[in-house]
Amino acid sequence: VNVLIVYAHPEPRSFNGAMRDLAVQTLGELGHQVQVSDLYAMRFNPVAGPGDFRDRADPTHLSILREQRYAAAGPGYAPDIAAEHEKLFWADLIIFQFPLWWRSVPAIMKGYFDRVFTLGLIYGRGSKGLRGKKAMLAYTTGGPVSEDGEQEEIEWLNRQLIPIREGIIQYLGLEELPPYIAFGPAGVDDAKREQYLEAYRNHLIQLTAKQEATR
Ligand SMILES: Cc1cc2nc3c(=O)[nH]c(=O)nc-3n(C[C@H](O)[C@H](O)[C@H](O)COP(=O)(O)O)c2cc1C
Repeated sequence: VNVLIVYAHPEPRSFNGAMRDLAVQTLGELGHQVQVSDLYAMRFNPVAGPGDFRDRADPTHLSILREQRYAAAGPGYAPDIAAEHEKLFWADLIIFQFPLWWRSVPAIMKGYFDRVFTLGLIYGRGSKGLRGKKAMLAYTTGGPVSEDGEQEEIEWLNRQLIPIREGIIQYLGLEELPPYIAFGPAGVDDAKREQYLEAYRNHLIQLTAKQEATR
């Protein structure tokens, strides 16, 4: 299985960084190929604009969707966008690793969606598309699990993330795999953090075993 981890955290020693490292190690040990797009380390530009295109259908009036379509039809995208397209087409599974910020992804990852998920190539009529690939959210939160319990917390978070899950992942035709969520890693002790990592490791092992079985 080819796995692309799109990772958004400014601090490599964060818990998100630990999850990223663990995924690279675990998936590697299982014999999978892994690439990481470390958005902060790459200084990924999250701001969509005229620089996203090699040529313009209309240089006098910027319509992002029209230019995305035009780029797909021939001239192509800016090199940083094209590089991400290549990784996405290479991947069988895409893992989005991030801290929950304002009940969503950090802006740098939102900008990745804005600029890289382009009409005409990644989705829409006549596009090559990402259909048949899988996607998974792996993220951390600030608070502990509420008194209602972990299953309720997961369902609550799943509802908060509908714009990402339905609006992006499912909209692109990706098959959404169960998320892995580490609840409030900053507020728990080392033993609990170790437990989170061990559980994530098992999550990855089970998930990729299923992928292999269905290939
Ligand atoms: C800008 C910002 C917004 C945040 N918004 C939320 C939020 O909406 N819900 C939540 O549970 N935690 C929120 N947090 C807390 C982070 O999710 C938490 O610090 C992070 O997941 C911990 O992982 P880390 O140690 O790898 O950074 C926010 C933190 C920041 C900096």
